Amino acid sequence: MSRETGNLFLKKELTREDIVTLLRSDDDNRNMLFKEASEVKKRYLGNTIYLRGLIEYSNLCGKNCLYCGVRKDNKKINRYTLSDDEVFDAAIAAREMGFGSITLQAGELDGQAHTDKIESLINTIRKLTDNALGITLSMGEQSSETYKRWFEAGANLYLLRIEASGKNLYEKVHPVDGHNSYYLRHECLKIIQNTGYQTGVGIIVGLPHQTLYDLADDIIFMRDFDIDICGISPFIEHTDTPIWKGGSDTYFLDERFNLTLKMIALMRIIMKDINIVSATAVRSINTTGLEKAIIAGANIIMPNLTPIRYREGYKLYEPKPDAKEIDRNNVSGLNLELLPGETIGLGKRGDTTHFQRRKNKL
Ligand code: 5AD
Ligand code: SF4
Repeated sequence: MSRETGNLFLKKELTREDIVTLLRSDDDNRNMLFKEASEVKKRYLGNTIYLRGLIEYSNLCGKNCLYCGVRKDNKKINRYTLSDDEVFDAAIAAREMGFGSITLQAGELDGQAHTDKIESLINTIRKLTDNALGITLSMGEQSSETYKRWFEAGANLYLLRIEASGKNLYEKVHPVDGHNSYYLRHECLKIIQNTGYQTGVGIIVGLPHQTLYDLADDIIFMRDFDIDICGISPFIEHTDTPIWKGGSDTYFLDERFNLTLKMIALMRIIMKDINIVSATAVRSINTTGLEKAIIAGANIIMPNLTPIRYREGYKLYEPKPDAKEIDRNNVSGLNLELLPGETIGLGKRGDTTHFQRRKNKL
């Protein structure tokens, strides 16, 4: 690839073709891409990594996404839901350890009782932590009423990944069983954004049938939707899913990992001041994956606060990194020696100027 191609990312607006070319880049060109992403991050957001403590509230799920180990039809896992006190203890611990925000994540559940429960958890968390924590939810597709109630209770950010922004691919990895609708997914994202949440969208890299053009379209979708936060994970097979083909191939895992880093770098270069999560799945493939994702442009990590005894039940993919308690002397869990100049934003939410700008436009 020529040097001009390597510098393609400096163009004011990247086309679909440009993005595909950059996703193909290797070695020197790839390092130039990461360097530029790092500089953009420094220029727009500084060198602070923000923490968002993850509480995996429940692994009950009404859906059957073909790639996910927590899918409804996987009878091999023990289903659990944390007690209220377990959630409160995790939130209090998050505050004590200096986290600026927490994320409550669960499979997709619906019904009045669930809406009421989450609303009441949000209210109590806020009281117990003096309103000091940002509260993120990752609870799937809900009605506009439910999104509104949770927002009014005090949740400020909602993560709902689009997973695959193209209809064709979306429908290849989600069963057509009445529980999945490509259009409903998009509608939910619009409702979340209009309700006033910071809106987190993300995708999976390396899904079967996915092409580099699909990934370029994902970036364009997230740019045009004007997301506030982005989560990009490499696809990792889980043996108890329909997508499992009876063997995982390290070569492809490395490819997915590298592509994930390039996707993060491109999102950073294109959207500049959004938050980008360095997701745990990158550590499953590469022991220094989280640090590499930070170097490629991510600025958020989500250390796991779920009580250890439940972790076995929340395997979206396999293998997940070893279940470990958070080290109170290094709450980020990152090897900061690999990240010269970066600091951890303790006690700060890390809301971006991007969201402020978007809010001012509303
Ligand atoms: N590999 C990678 N990511 C996965 N997710 C679910 N299953 C997998 C998998 N096998 C991601 C989805 C979902 C998020 C909670 O986890 O993107 O939105
Ligand atoms: Fe359920 Fe989410 Fe897994 Fe889909 S990805 S099966 S909605 S937990």
